[in-house]
Amino acid sequence: MSKESNVCQVGKVRKHYAELRSTNDTALLLLRQEKPPEGLVITTDFQQAGRGQMQNNWHSDAGQNILMSTILYPTFLPLSKAFYLNKCVSLALVQVLAEVADLEAEVKWPNDIYVNSQKIAGILIQNTLQGDRLISTVVGIGLNVNQTRFNADLTRATSLSLLKSKTFDRAEVLAALSRALTQRYQEMKNNQEILDREYHRLLYRRGVWSTYLDEKQDLFQGMIEGIDPDGKLKMLIKSGESRSFAHSEIKFI
Ligand code: BTN
Repeated sequence: MSKESNVCQVGKVRKHYAELRSTNDTALLLLRQEKPPEGLVITTDFQQAGRGQMQNNWHSDAGQNILMSTILYPTFLPLSKAFYLNKCVSLALVQVLAEVADLEAEVKWPNDIYVNSQKIAGILIQNTLQGDRLISTVVGIGLNVNQTRFNADLTRATSLSLLKSKTFDRAEVLAALSRALTQRYQEMKNNQEILDREYHRLLYRRGVWSTYLDEKQDLFQGMIEGIDPDGKLKMLIKSGESRSFAHSEIKFI
């Protein structure tokens, strides 16, 4: 088999729906029914029940943004390295924002994309395991493109349009995102050091003392040092000790 045929091309095949509950739900359903080609992209103009991390909802006005999921089979990745998927997708998004809008984005661990301390994109990765092996992954991405008004509770939301004062061609942004995902997924197979280096470099609040809330609802001052191999956030506490946090154990204030 030639090397080319092993390259997963994200978005080579795409299914578009005018409306559905959630592109991640549709992708998971397809995975239960058949074996979709790797890199299949599902897009929609509107989600009735878009899902975010930690059981949150993801709201997006109809026809304004990118709402997509792609199906991957990262069977080569040990479960202990599953966080590389977050790195890969986060870096693809940062790359696209630079390419289509000349924006310098950062990664708010574990997988939000920020510009000027405001959230422009979110990622929801859902892995399917067999024992302790990854057999498939659904990567859901919500990228705010042309929406200019957000719910009052989303005080930190932004979009390409708000940042650049123009309307973007969603098809072009999606094409750039598919290319970037293809490239970063290839790097995840061949060159994980690049992903480590760039994710570290782009970490929001790295090296800066800031306020966080821990599991006991206590506020504390911490400085992000980096990411552990298992994807936990490594933080220096003012008292001098170093601690690592899982996503559910810490909140950025
Ligand atoms: C987050 O920041 O909490 C993650 C948001 C992920 C939203 C996207 S939109 C497309 C895909 N389908 C979903 O239901 N969620 C993801």
